[in-house]
Amino acid sequence: MSHRTQVAIIGAGPAGLMLAHMLHLHNISTVILESRDREYALGRIRAGILEQGTVDILNSAGLGTRLKQEGMPHHGIDFAFAGEKHLIDVQKLCGKQVTVYGQTEIVRDLAEARDSYHGETLFEAEVTAIENPDSSPAIVSYRQNGKDQTLQADFIAACDGFHGIGRRSIPTKVLKTYDNEYPYSWLGILAKAPPHNDVVIYANHENGFALASMRSPDVTRLYLQVENDDSVDNWSDQQIWDALDERLLGDQYAQVNRGEILQKGITPMRSFVAEPMSYRRLYLAGDAAHIVPPTGAKGLNLAIADSAILASALINHYTKDDDHILKHYSDICLQRVWKVERFSWWCTTALHRNYKESEFNQKIHLAELDLLVTSETFARSFAENYTGLPIAHIPDF
Ligand code: APR
Ligand code: PHB
Repeated sequence: MSHRTQVAIIGAGPAGLMLAHMLHLHNISTVILESRDREYALGRIRAGILEQGTVDILNSAGLGTRLKQEGMPHHGIDFAFAGEKHLIDVQKLCGKQVTVYGQTEIVRDLAEARDSYHGETLFEAEVTAIENPDSSPAIVSYRQNGKDQTLQADFIAACDGFHGIGRRSIPTKVLKTYDNEYPYSWLGILAKAPPHNDVVIYANHENGFALASMRSPDVTRLYLQVENDDSVDNWSDQQIWDALDERLLGDQYAQVNRGEILQKGITPMRSFVAEPMSYRRLYLAGDAAHIVPPTGAKGLNLAIADSAILASALINHYTKDDDHILKHYSDICLQRVWKVERFSWWCTTALHRNYKESEFNQKIHLAELDLLVTSETFARSFAENYTGLPIAHIPDF
């Protein structure tokens, strides 16, 4: 059986769900095809800092009810290095703030909104091929319940993450990719313990980076720099807490609040960009097109920005017969993507200890952090990036 929609969306992550929601508000039909089951797709634990622009988009798209109640606005962040802690008050520096609200919660809000208007989301439906992206209808082949099926669409949005099929469907002679790997990973824990600090702490310690974040007044999210080939099995709970105390607080008698560890995992670090972000009727958004290392928490925000730009492009196409944004979608996104890549790379290299790097480079990183906490000009640029650079096109709702 084959059916037809205006926009076929591959992936029910934040990029796909957000795009579908924005298009729905302009009466554009979508079908989302998601390879995983609903529970898995909605339950994944990921980053949790929202730029001001992301919060504004969620609010104006009618998705802000729980975000307003449970989101935790932060006016600043702490940097701990060379034995001291310094507050960067981003609100004072650039008039904008960030909000702590887990990606898991956003995905849940988006999925519930989609259910409320009976939007079609097919779970356990793996896209196996993208055919005919040159002309309408483009065809998406997928497999669900052991059956091969097809979906016809005017456009295909590949919001299918780094390992998805969308980017791989762009001919290799057209696609150019840029990649950077880092010689460290993050060991992350979610713990049933109140945050010990009122804002997020980024620490550069001689034993490695550490980060203290939160999800709610009762749940903390904490990370430690570890080796790339490390495993959670190498770390007892006691060792994790002791390393967090040492790196975050630098005081042998101080302790972060401890509690039951609810989840543990290792996150690799990578920077990656694919150009162009579109090919004929196929458009990439979110992790399908780019990856940032998690320092600075930009992955989710970038995904939402791409979705806003792609939604604007498709809304203008259907409602105004105007293809200007659609034609320039890739260039418009990439201009912002590269700046966010730069920021994430900078936060990562300045805050981590790369023991293979020369001592000269390590000194330079500490000088950069010192500049951040002593130069208002440097700090303002950081604040503008951290709270979110402007997004070129956001639909009206
Ligand atoms: N068919 C159907 N679905 C697919 C396929 C496929 N062939 N390949 C991948 N998917 C689904 C995945 O199962 C996943 O649910 O696409 C979805 C992609 O979602 P995300 O990986 O969350 O990507 P995105 O929406 O771009 O969100 C980016 O997620 O990884 C974090 O840090 C990242 O915060 C960033 C955000
Ligand atoms: C998180 O809360 O998971 C988080 C916070 C800040 C980061 C990255 C992740 O830079």
